[in-house]
Amino acid sequence: MVTPGAVRFEHHREALGIGVSTPRVSWKTVAPAGWVQSAYEIETATDGGTVTSGRIDSDESVLVPWAAEPLVSRQAATVRVRVWGGDDVSEWSEPSAVEAGLLDPVDWIAVPVTGDWPEEDSDDRRPPIVRRGFRTEGVIAAARLYVSAHGLYEVEINGERVGTDAFSPGWTVYRERLRYYSYDVTGLLADGENAIGAWLGDGWYRGRLGWRGGFRNLFGDDLSLIAQLEIRYADGRVDTVATDGDWKAALGPIVSSGLYDGETYDARDEVDGWSSPRFDDAGWTPVATGIRDPATLVAPEGPPVRCTQEVAPVSVLTTPSGAAVLDLGQNLVGRLRIRVRGAAGDTVTIRTAEVMQDGEIYTRPLRDAKSTDVYTLAGRDVEEWEPRFTIHGFRFAEISGWPGDISEAVANGDIVARVYHSDLERTGWFDSSNALVNRLHENVLWSMRGNFVDIPTDCPQRDERVGWTGDIQVFAPTASFLYDVSGMLSSWLKDVAVEQLPDGTVPWYVPVIPAKHMWTPIRPGAVWGDVAVLTPWVLYERFGDAGILAAQYDSAKAWVDLIDRLAGPDHLWNEGFQLGDWLDPAAPPQDPADATTDKYLVATAYFAWSTQHLAKTAAVLGRVDDAARYSALAAEIRVAFADEYLLADGRMTSDAQTAYSLAITFDLIPDPGQLDRAGSRLAELVAEAENRIATGFAGTPLVSDALTRAGAIDSAYDLLLEPECPSWLYPVTQGATTIWERWDSQRPDGTVNPGTMTSFNHYALGAVADWLHRVVAGIAPAAPGYRSIAFAPRPGGGFTRASAQHETPYGRASIEWHIVEDELVVEVVVPTGADATVELPGQTPIPVGSGSHRFTSKRKEALTP
Ligand code: BGC
Repeated sequence: MVTPGAVRFEHHREALGIGVSTPRVSWKTVAPAGWVQSAYEIETATDGGTVTSGRIDSDESVLVPWAAEPLVSRQAATVRVRVWGGDDVSEWSEPSAVEAGLLDPVDWIAVPVTGDWPEEDSDDRRPPIVRRGFRTEGVIAAARLYVSAHGLYEVEINGERVGTDAFSPGWTVYRERLRYYSYDVTGLLADGENAIGAWLGDGWYRGRLGWRGGFRNLFGDDLSLIAQLEIRYADGRVDTVATDGDWKAALGPIVSSGLYDGETYDARDEVDGWSSPRFDDAGWTPVATGIRDPATLVAPEGPPVRCTQEVAPVSVLTTPSGAAVLDLGQNLVGRLRIRVRGAAGDTVTIRTAEVMQDGEIYTRPLRDAKSTDVYTLAGRDVEEWEPRFTIHGFRFAEISGWPGDISEAVANGDIVARVYHSDLERTGWFDSSNALVNRLHENVLWSMRGNFVDIPTDCPQRDERVGWTGDIQVFAPTASFLYDVSGMLSSWLKDVAVEQLPDGTVPWYVPVIPAKHMWTPIRPGAVWGDVAVLTPWVLYERFGDAGILAAQYDSAKAWVDLIDRLAGPDHLWNEGFQLGDWLDPAAPPQDPADATTDKYLVATAYFAWSTQHLAKTAAVLGRVDDAARYSALAAEIRVAFADEYLLADGRMTSDAQTAYSLAITFDLIPDPGQLDRAGSRLAELVAEAENRIATGFAGTPLVSDALTRAGAIDSAYDLLLEPECPSWLYPVTQGATTIWERWDSQRPDGTVNPGTMTSFNHYALGAVADWLHRVVAGIAPAAPGYRSIAFAPRPGGGFTRASAQHETPYGRASIEWHIVEDELVVEVVVPTGADATVELPGQTPIPVGSGSHRFTSKRKEALTP
């Protein structure tokens, strides 16, 4: 029996408060092998009745058009689908619910409200809590709460926390796009007296942000709640309780709160029952109201940040100085939750660090981030506390002032780390016979989790944590395999477009820390700026959403046009500032841009690659003239590149791993003989370096593919498996549990790299995982959204087994291969709605349909299905 799964809307798993009136619809069908959808029908039920699309002859099931009248603000619908295979119709899917948020600025009556008292001069201002009581009159049918804030919020109704999200409303370009979240709060309301209240925290909005001391109040100096509670009664009446001048404010127990510095909380200042209806707020101060243009309030496109895991300490260490340090066994991103008994006024201080040196926690890499949480006890029987508005990147936590035995507390589960990141759906898995490579992959996963905290960041621990464009540009293919990042990154790309300068310049990081405060000017840089073209393309390739290409087209084109102007008639981008092959291991610790590969070679290679991708984008969007124009321009850039950087003997002007990797993977060597020689030279360079990696941000994601393409896959495996520094496995052999920023963040002598920029949790160099998925395991998209899958495993490196699974937009695809004696056995699963080719080493690709397939191959023998 064929039944399609429940439909999804846009890129949401949770579709309450969706920001579009005609959300596209997707479903996955599990059907017998070879089944092909010939038609579908979508049924949409709203308060206006039930409509159906009728039978639509189509094999599409991903992001198909909405099949009813556009939703209006607050309107809910349930949608189900049935599908035909040939003439046989399936059952209907389970119904899925979708509900529009506030789609029109006039829907908003809430205004920002904040504490109204003279601002303290101190840097660490105490955040207010705000509240009001209200009455409900009658039987409640449904209640919705729409919330945003200047700063971060956590709302409570009648003493209960609303939602499970953290760090809302996240970080967007606030002046133009401030996110709001929608909550179903029907179950939290009571008959008669009720109360609503909110905690507020500095977050990105007004907290300290940026390095070299950073800046405060970057986006405003108020901490304000913007909330609109709409109560719909059974008889049709609607009551709206919105933030306005009737709310009250007070100082709460959070003494200070910062993303970098941590949170200080004095439980003696807790206000009992402040968000409950019985609370008397006569002593509170009326709020001050502020201004927010409701046209800037936008609904989320991806999931919020949540706690996704709890990790218990694996040991309690006593350091040479006598400090108690908890080791979590894993470098992670989140914060500790403590349960503690003690006297009023006892103060527990938690300092976190990623590493230890000389037996003590080592905080120099945090630079100016204090990363310290402080809890002062109220003296109740048991007190449980977790900071609300801060987050740390750490494996070790030094605890001082703990009343009682800390080892006992750990054994009782009274101290746990809670891991926070954007609550994305996990979609990718990799495993192999090589335990070190598996750990490397696990480290990539942890670094992704730690740096996908509402925006894609560089690192989670020091005074930085900004959306560096180059980092995500190189990591996006890996990220798109491991998690469904389609919604989160398409939202962030909108911010990229908003922040782009009128001349097309893409900032180094997005959101930008406003220009008046910039210590380095925004200026165009290759690898980083190319995010505007290449990342939308990756999302299209991996998730099949051409809408992302359309949404980003002007931004992508503005970038390429800018570089075209900068390069001029010779098509070489060889002037101006570049970061180039950032963090080439040969660069000195304090000058990471001083790479072996010419930075202008990198810039021109990327110029060609982005131009080619802009041409492909234009073609997908039916912009025929642009497709032809940029394709021709890309060809001219390739010629210019070859003339400038390729030498007659097959070498390049920069005789370095990154130079050859760029030239080979970006199709910059037109002559096949020369391409061969470049490939051989790259393999030679790897051998000469005794398999040590010699690439930075630009070359690292490409070198393995370049070697593979050059017919030197053994060299690619040699690079992968090299344990000596610098290499991918060196950190693993040192006990790393995340990907390091530098190849030698911790040096072979055990000391931390002296560079001021030394993180132990940066995903960029983990971009090799994409090659593990596509080449080692052998699963890659051959058509957008994996509608067609290329299975092409390339066993090597002594691996006897590898496997990968990916939840594609069509369903679960997988490959597993193992070698038994001299036979290679490959098993693949192709989801319904997709097809595939299976290409075993040295053999012709074989087309297959949906279902499971098994192949075996002996050397020199024909492939037998
Ligand atoms: C960040 C990097 C970033 C780089 C560029 C660093 O401080 O952590 O990952 O891309 O600066 O300058």
